[in-house]
Amino acid sequence: MHRTPPSLQPKPASLSACEMTEIVMPNDANPLGHMLGGRLLHLMDIAASITAMRHAGNPCVTASFDSVDFHTPVHIGEVCILKARVTWTGRTSMEIGIDVYAESPTRGERRHTTSAFATFVALDPETGRPTRVPPLAIETDEDRRLFEQGEERRRLRLARRHARG
Ligand SMILES: CC(C)(COP(=O)(O)OP(=O)(O)OC[C@H]1O[C@@H](n2cnc3c(N)ncnc32)[C@H](O)[C@@H]1OP(=O)(O)O)[C@@H](O)C(=O)NCCC(=O)NCCS
Repeated sequence: MHRTPPSLQPKPASLSACEMTEIVMPNDANPLGHMLGGRLLHLMDIAASITAMRHAGNPCVTASFDSVDFHTPVHIGEVCILKARVTWTGRTSMEIGIDVYAESPTRGERRHTTSAFATFVALDPETGRPTRVPPLAIETDEDRRLFEQGEERRRLRLARRHARG
C-alpha cells in the first residue's frame, strides 16, 4: 500500500502535546495506598509515546528514560494528570518532557509529583530502522530554554550510555 511520508517541516510542541487523566484505583497501589512507581512509569511512557508519534508521524520506540524522582506519593482515589511535550529534536530521536500532577477530584487542589525526560526514536514502518523526525519549531522563550537544556541533557545521556558500553 502506498504511504505518504510524514512532512519534515518544523512542528511546534503545541501540536503534539498530550494530557492524560487517570483515577488511581486500589489495584494501582501498594499496601500503603500509594500509587506504584511502576504503574506511574507505565502511564508516563504511554503519554510520552503518544506525543512522540504525533510529532514524528511514524511509530516510535522508547530509547531511554532519564532518572525519575518521585517527589510525593499519589494516593488511591486521587486523579493523576500526565502532561507530555516535545522538548528537543535530533535527526531521528526526540526528547519528551513528562510532568505528573495529583489532584483531589472533590477539592480540586493540584500538586506536582513527578517529572522526567525520555528519548524516543521514530522508526520507518517498512524497514523498522530509525527515520528522520521534523525539527521542533521554537515558538516561545520556554521552548528555547527547554531545547537548549535538551542539548546538554542529550550530551550527558550519550556519555552515560557510552560509559556503560
Ligand atoms: C532505539 C533504537 C531503535 C536505536 O537504534 P540504533 O541502531 O542505536 O540507532 P542509531 O544508532 O541510528 O540511533 C538513532 C537515534 O537514537 C539515539 N539513541 C539511541 N540510543 C539512545 C539512548 N540509549 N539514549 C538516547 N538516545 C539514543 C541516537 O543518538 C540517534 O539519535 P539522532 O538520530 O537524533 O542523532 C534501538 O536501540 C532499539 O530498538 N532499542 C529498543 C527499543 C525498545 O524496545 N523500547 C521499548 C519498547 S517501545
